[in-house]
Amino acid sequence: MDYQQLIEEVYQEVQEENLKGKVADYIPEIATVDPNQFGIALVDIKGNVFGVGDHQKPFSIQSISKVHTLTMVFNFFNSKLWTRVNVEPSGDPFNSIAQLEYEKGIPRNPFINAGALVITDALCSKFEKPIEQVSAFINELAGETCVMVNNDVKNSEMDHGERNTALAYFLKSFKNFNNPIDQVLEVYFSHCAMEMSCVDLAKSFSFLANDGYSIFADRQVLTESQSRRVNALMLTCGFYDEAGEFAYKVGLPGKSGVGGGVAAVMPHKFSIAVWSPELNEKGNSVKAIRALELLTDKLSFSLF
Ligand code: DON
Repeated sequence: MDYQQLIEEVYQEVQEENLKGKVADYIPEIATVDPNQFGIALVDIKGNVFGVGDHQKPFSIQSISKVHTLTMVFNFFNSKLWTRVNVEPSGDPFNSIAQLEYEKGIPRNPFINAGALVITDALCSKFEKPIEQVSAFINELAGETCVMVNNDVKNSEMDHGERNTALAYFLKSFKNFNNPIDQVLEVYFSHCAMEMSCVDLAKSFSFLANDGYSIFADRQVLTESQSRRVNALMLTCGFYDEAGEFAYKVGLPGKSGVGGGVAAVMPHKFSIAVWSPELNEKGNSVKAIRALELLTDKLSFSLF
């Protein structure tokens, strides 16, 4: 399979479709990015890297970082984690608070904001310098120093963080939050404000295509069984209330972020990251989703 030719074809076809969306504006600093950027990077199971367009340009990974934090915490708490966070798709927007009340403070899954805040709270319980350690972990997975917290984006989200703050207080009222709220929110906004390129992001997801073993870190990051479970969660919950549609169109486990990135894996074959800032009404990148749909169509295979 000529992956370079494949992603170049996909890139070209998506560009020709001239798809439009809207850059996330509830984090004002993110709204300032050039909306026309578009890049694709694919990393095969042997570690070969293929790229096209703006694949080397760092962007705000936002909710994609929830996969990295979940991986760090999963290793420590294992199945105990699932007493605090569920593993069901929510069918609701990523920042919804509705289910949290009648489901007694147990978020539906670790990728909606409520669930990710519980994961970040667990991270703060286990790691003394959580932000430095998340950065070090992602750098290790990518095999190079690549990740940077953009403090302007972090502060911009903190200044407009009413919804996440409300979610954290709500979780605390159900005793599903152990650390000081401000501290956890700062760590959460910081890991969301991390920037890296499609190439490094695809490399950092490579272990999920390889039964938990990272060739870049040269170690088993998750067990094979844990790795399958993170993939299952990405497939069912990675795109919030668009998870079904992504599974239908693309058929790969993946995770989106409001910076316009999507990272996905084809187990035992490759990991891939696509970035373009304009989003659909569900908060997922229009071009990235279309690119991945074309990619699995051209490959004639997906998870299914
Ligand atoms: O907490 C937030 O709202 C953002 N930092 C992350 C949201 C996000 O990326 C949702 N994904 N599409």
